Amino acid sequence: MTQNMTLKRSLTRVLLALSLSGFLFISNQSFGQEAAADTAAVASQGGIPTDAASISEGESLFKANCTTCHRVHQKLVGPALEDVYNRAPSIEWIKNFIWNSSKVIASGDDYAVSLYDEYNKTQMTAFPTFKEEEIMSLLAYIQDETNKGPATASTTTTPGGGEGGAGGESIPAGYLNAIMVGLIIVLILIFVVLVLITTILRRYLNQRGDLDEDDKKIVNPAFDFDKFIKSKPVIFLTVFLFTAIAFKVVINQLYAVGVQKGYAPKQPIAFSHKIHAGDYQIDCQYCHTGVRKSKSANIPSLNICMNCHSQVKTSSPQIQKLTAAYENNDPIEWVRIHNLPDLAYFNHSQHVEVGEIECQTCHGPIEEMEVVRQHSLLTMGWCIDCHRKTEVNAKGNEYYDNLLELHEEESKDAMTVEDIGGLECSKCHY
Ligand code: HEC
Ligand code: HEC
Ligand code: HEC
Ligand code: HEC
Ligand code: HEC
Ligand code: HEC
Repeated sequence: MTQNMTLKRSLTRVLLALSLSGFLFISNQSFGQEAAADTAAVASQGGIPTDAASISEGESLFKANCTTCHRVHQKLVGPALEDVYNRAPSIEWIKNFIWNSSKVIASGDDYAVSLYDEYNKTQMTAFPTFKEEEIMSLLAYIQDETNKGPATASTTTTPGGGEGGAGGESIPAGYLNAIMVGLIIVLILIFVVLVLITTILRRYLNQRGDLDEDDKKIVNPAFDFDKFIKSKPVIFLTVFLFTAIAFKVVINQLYAVGVQKGYAPKQPIAFSHKIHAGDYQIDCQYCHTGVRKSKSANIPSLNICMNCHSQVKTSSPQIQKLTAAYENNDPIEWVRIHNLPDLAYFNHSQHVEVGEIECQTCHGPIEEMEVVRQHSLLTMGWCIDCHRKTEVNAKGNEYYDNLLELHEEESKDAMTVEDIGGLECSKCHY
């Protein structure tokens, strides 16, 4: 009799332990993916200035000219530039390469040629007008950033996979799902084995003639299969597994699809904002050229794509389709996603340039989308609602100074778009 009790108790414990470790495991994979960025201490290199003025001049030059293709700690279209002053043949070499890289490559320089091949023969822009001091301040900035190490928030992983990167690698989602499924199969197997063991034990005990009535009562009901299914540990385990899976699915959905589901048609070319605006951090404006200056944001023409794709990833069938369309002067028929009816007037530059509203406020996290989807409702109510709530950005804008003065005489609240006429029918309707 005591044997049975201990058996039952240890069974409960095994199940509890299993569920607990399962829970820890799942919470780990959902939240424990941050990689610790290890900072590499690098000594200052002779000749490169270290004063704040040079560094900040270098920073603005870098941001204006280089960020389309380079980051300091991350490989983009071109290499990560951290530590480049130590790896390139010399500072002179770097100057020549920035002035005119194709000349250096054409001269047969080993380092330049192998770099050029490694980057799929992508031509770096030439900067013949840079002065030597300007290049030195660029290097000052790069050195400063190198010494600082990568930013702590390592949300952007190294794309292309070519370079190891400084942070630890996170496990791809596919593996995590496989591990989840594996875990569930193991749990089911354990369950089946336990049922088998109890059945065999019961049969064995029943066959033994030396059990008294009390023992028999305990043996049979205790191992009754129905009871087992209804027993607390089993119910607990089932409920636990169910919630764990539901929880994981919900988390995945929230991250992958966004809370609001919108129109997301398939496009003729599988263009991904996640790759371009996310991984490679290409500025929205680089492609949507009108967004700060005009009513319409513009969908980029193929010229813009070919700036990079005449060199980048030319072996991909998608890019070959792109190149063929470009060569035949055949525009790509992108399916339009956001579309107000003709009766309404919406102006991008008014909102983005004057109002300083982020694209993401209206379009959602575009830089995470493989396929663009409509994030906001785009109804009249949506426009009006924001105009009621949003303060006009009147600082440093002469045009609004008078209005702001008038407004402050009348009311103590902040000046919203409503106050400058943003609810007038004629502002939005022709
Ligand atoms: C159009 C893209 C592009 C732009 C813009 C660009 N680069 Fe590059 N850069 C590259 C590519 C690609 C390489 C790799 C070599 C090659 O393919 O020619 C490279 C290589 C380099 C190298 C050598 C890296 C190494 O690992 O030795 C340096 C230094 C460099 N670039 C600096 C700059 C600086 C500074 C700027 C801005 C003033 C800049 N680049 C702008 C694409 C670009
Ligand atoms: C490399 C070029 C490129 C960059 C960079 C880029 N886009 Fe786009 N964008 C496109 C192309 C091409 C389309 C049309 C195909 C599609 O919808 O995916 C598009 C479509 C869109 C649309 C939907 C247009 C419609 O039909 O209603 C929005 C919104 C948008 N982009 C916003 C952004 C934002 C915000 C950013 C910056 C975070 C950005 N884009 C960066 C090329 C680019
Ligand atoms: C500033 C450079 C740049 C511009 C401009 C650019 N791309 Fe890209 N594109 C890239 C890079 C880098 C990749 C990633 C290549 C890789 O995976 O190695 C890429 C990948 C792609 C891919 C995926 C290819 C594949 O099979 O993996 C497609 C499709 C694509 N781009 C289409 C476009 C279109 C369409 C445009 C114009 C609207 C455009 N790109 C403009 C740099 C650019
Ligand atoms: C205040 C909200 C808002 C902001 C901010 C905003 N957009 Fe839009 N966007 C819209 C609306 C509304 C449309 C639909 C316009 C239409 O149909 O006339 C649209 C349409 C687009 C389109 C489709 C082509 C077009 O011009 O109609 C692109 C591309 C686009 N937006 C990109 C951007 C980018 C890039 C940014 C940031 C620089 C941005 N938008 C900021 C509301 C916004
Ligand atoms: C995220 C908030 C937001 C949304 C959504 C929004 N707007 Fe605006 N809108 C603003 C702001 C802020 C301004 C003021 C910009 C400025 O400083 O002039 C503005 C200004 C305007 C103006 C000029 C008003 C004036 O008196 O000069 C028009 C017209 C306009 N919006 C139309 C629209 C339409 C149409 C929509 C919906 C399709 C819309 N807006 C959606 C924030 C928004
Ligand atoms: C901030 C911009 C804005 C203002 C101000 C505004 N509207 Fe609209 N209105 C829109 C947009 C955007 C649409 C189209 C989207 C929709 O149908 O909801 C629209 C649609 C409409 C429609 C057509 C609705 C339908 O179902 O087709 C009518 C009618 C209308 N507005 C009347 C008015 C009147 C009257 C006023 C003034 C009291 C006004 N609107 C002020 C932005 C505005």
